[in-house]
Amino acid sequence: MSDKQIRIFDTTLRDGEQAPGCSMTLSEKLRVAKALSELNVDIIEAGFPAASPGDFESVKAIADRDFGPVICGLARCNPGDIEKVYNAVKGAGRHRIHVFVATSAIHREHKLKMAKEEIIRSAVGAIEMARELVEDVEFSPEDASRTELSYLAEVVSAAIEAGATTVNIPDTVGYTVPAEFDHLFRYLKDHVERIDDIILSVHCHNDLGMAVANSLAAVNAGARQIECTINGIGERAGNCSLEEAVMAIKTRAEFFGLETAIDTTRLYPTSRLVSSITGMHAPRNKAIVGENAFAHEAGIHQHGMLQHASTYEIMRPEDVGLSKSNLVMGKHSGRHAFRDRVQELGFELDEFETNRAFQEFKKLADKKKDVYDGDIEAIIMNADSASSGPWTLKSLEVQTHTDQPATAAVTLIDENGKETVKSSHGDGPVAAAFLALEKSTGVELTLRNFELHSASIGEDAQGEVTVTVEYDGESYRGRGASVDIVEAGCRACLEVMNRILRRKQQGLSGPGKPTPEQATI
Ligand code: KIV
Ligand code: ZN
Repeated sequence: MSDKQIRIFDTTLRDGEQAPGCSMTLSEKLRVAKALSELNVDIIEAGFPAASPGDFESVKAIADRDFGPVICGLARCNPGDIEKVYNAVKGAGRHRIHVFVATSAIHREHKLKMAKEEIIRSAVGAIEMARELVEDVEFSPEDASRTELSYLAEVVSAAIEAGATTVNIPDTVGYTVPAEFDHLFRYLKDHVERIDDIILSVHCHNDLGMAVANSLAAVNAGARQIECTINGIGERAGNCSLEEAVMAIKTRAEFFGLETAIDTTRLYPTSRLVSSITGMHAPRNKAIVGENAFAHEAGIHQHGMLQHASTYEIMRPEDVGLSKSNLVMGKHSGRHAFRDRVQELGFELDEFETNRAFQEFKKLADKKKDVYDGDIEAIIMNADSASSGPWTLKSLEVQTHTDQPATAAVTLIDENGKETVKSSHGDGPVAAAFLALEKSTGVELTLRNFELHSASIGEDAQGEVTVTVEYDGESYRGRGASVDIVEAGCRACLEVMNRILRRKQQGLSGPGKPTPEQATI
């Protein structure tokens, strides 16, 4: 690999997934891992196998599929964690063990209660053990940006001597600023003897909104790996956003003189996939993938754009996989045109999936005149959830009056084609419909969060609903889409109920049950 190449280490499935509300099921993680490999990331950090049996299983499932990128798992500096990572990642053609220990004074004194030398011994022991198992070992001194520089250089030196092949410098609490981080990386370059023998990596959190800026400062000072997540998801304010860092390096190539292997035309579809799965939608004004990122509304800008796009546009929408046309389709659009559009939007569907999505498209086109790209994306994203039983929503009827409880009647069809009709009252139509669903399925959920997002434009746009619910002490997320937002909510809720019932049918409930991640079928 040339010295100008920046490796993209995606940690959406580990640091991103750690964020509240971002946990994913096994099948969702597999979809994201496949999308990341199509995006051509260099390394996928698939999880933290020692965190739970579910985490172990999902890292292993991703590694066993061997999508192409290096598959990495995170471990603390102890033999149990390291062995678990090894057993989880070894199925991938290329795999990595990533060990970490905190090094800052705050962490040493208050969290680890360990002396400086002890921490170095623990890191060295862990790296040596990992190197006995695999060739590719990454080490991270957690909270590096708040660690004394001379001690950090000592730790990094010891890690290299012990056999680390990548050393990652995390700004764990998003505290640093670009000039300071530039200094830190140059300091390490100057003070660590064998630093050029390894790949120096950067890992930034966004607490002060500078994760991307700090990561770019680090690469400008010699880092050759960026750790980042799709849409910048991650704990608290998130991590460095992959799409922003990659597009900054590409768009300002003459400044950085660097490149990545990312297929940037996959950025938008991957971003949409992750937001649809997690229910965390990128703000409209988010750089690169926000809905307004390429919209020029102001008259003066539009005038300039018409004269020459480069007056106000530094990137082309098609470079990030955003279709420029937002072509409108309708009920007369044929299967061919639909399939072409789906491909242009970056989805690869097999014959069965195309047929299923086309049927949904036709149903939607009967309800609304214009079908936009966002609608098609919502159809595809929600296809999985819409199609797996045991229950299917046949119809929904709701009545609302101001100052009176709402009523809802739902008709469900079971696997044998038998219909069940139940009705209920509630404070509002969503509550009434959810209660009716509970009566029908026998699954009682506690609703924790209900998020509504418009899939496209106009009054008849489809609403995409993500619900977070609790059942038996565990948290589940479900999605649904419809031009009727109560129906979208019902579909989201029914998706979770179906998942719970399928788990029960498979005997996966009761004590010692796996996490919802494992239980996804
Ligand atoms: O933020 C952090 O320090 C981390 C490490 C485990 C790399 O996520
Ligand atoms: Zn982190």
